[in-house]
Amino acid sequence: MNIKNRKSWELPESAVTPEKNYLNRRHFLKTVGMGSGALLGASLAKGASSGFPSILNQDFNGEDLEKTPYDLIKGYNNFYEFTTDKGDVQKLANKGWQTEPWDIEIKGLVDNPLKIEVNDLIKKVGGIEQRVYRFRCVEAWSMVIPWDGFPLKKIIDLAQPKSEAKYMKFTTFYDPKNAPGQRGRSIDWPYVEGLTMDEASNELAFMATGIYGKPIPNQNGAPIRLVVPWKYGFKSIKSIVKIEFVKRRPLNTWQALQPREYGFYANVNPKVDHPRWSQASERVIGAGFFSSRKPTLMFNGYEEQVAHLYEGLDLKKNY
Ligand code: MTE
Repeated sequence: MNIKNRKSWELPESAVTPEKNYLNRRHFLKTVGMGSGALLGASLAKGASSGFPSILNQDFNGEDLEKTPYDLIKGYNNFYEFTTDKGDVQKLANKGWQTEPWDIEIKGLVDNPLKIEVNDLIKKVGGIEQRVYRFRCVEAWSMVIPWDGFPLKKIIDLAQPKSEAKYMKFTTFYDPKNAPGQRGRSIDWPYVEGLTMDEASNELAFMATGIYGKPIPNQNGAPIRLVVPWKYGFKSIKSIVKIEFVKRRPLNTWQALQPREYGFYANVNPKVDHPRWSQASERVIGAGFFSSRKPTLMFNGYEEQVAHLYEGLDLKKNY
């Protein structure tokens, strides 16, 4: 999705290394006996308020999915606030940019606006859980990621939107001193994204604060980001500082930049190609060279959960 014309989605084979320290979290939790609610409660109360360890939600246990190694998830990133070079994001996002403490503002057409530090927000929504989701970038690469976090619906319940609220608008931080990519003007910073209220209320919409049972690395959008697994990755906005409930559809950053190529909905759809490349298949990051491509699934495999949101909508026009 780069602004130039190079195929930035092509992963150099050098990046494909098997994960040695792969942590099977479910197994780990069973082994150490963290499966019970009482123990979880105790660890939440005494541990850092970031809520770890989290418990795997069995409805999204990803048993049928091959998880992407942690090193690849945290080493192959799109975070244009730092650089367009995927391999360099990790270094630049850990050079002085501070992600704790971190305030997030929730406001707009709501009865209960609030500004709250992320760790306090996690406590307020009752802690975190783990869900394994497919993750599909518009650049035609994919991963499978065990996210830790909580349903976005919990923020909606906390904020109590008024009936005029039709969309949620999400905004990333603006800090050009520590985020060198924001010194350039190719993008109108800060990065903005949006969802309809129906999309945001869907059970899959998730606020991630961790990956593989650890606090989310800076380069993946610390300390809190959105994850909407049935949509292309650019909808999953990182490092959120503001969430607003609004009447009008927000103009999201990529749509503002290239409206012919990127829309508001951005639902994963093998039948609607990007103007510059096919979306019919995807490159599975970490799968090795010969088994690395697989067919793209409608709504990224979450058709059952979300297809009803788009009934009657022409998905070719509303890309
Ligand atoms: N959020 C912000 N603020 N800035 C970005 O550049 N890139 C998006 C999305 N969220 C981006 C962002 C894109 S294009 C993708 S594919 C995912 O983040 C990448 O997330 P990852 O680096 O954790 O894989």
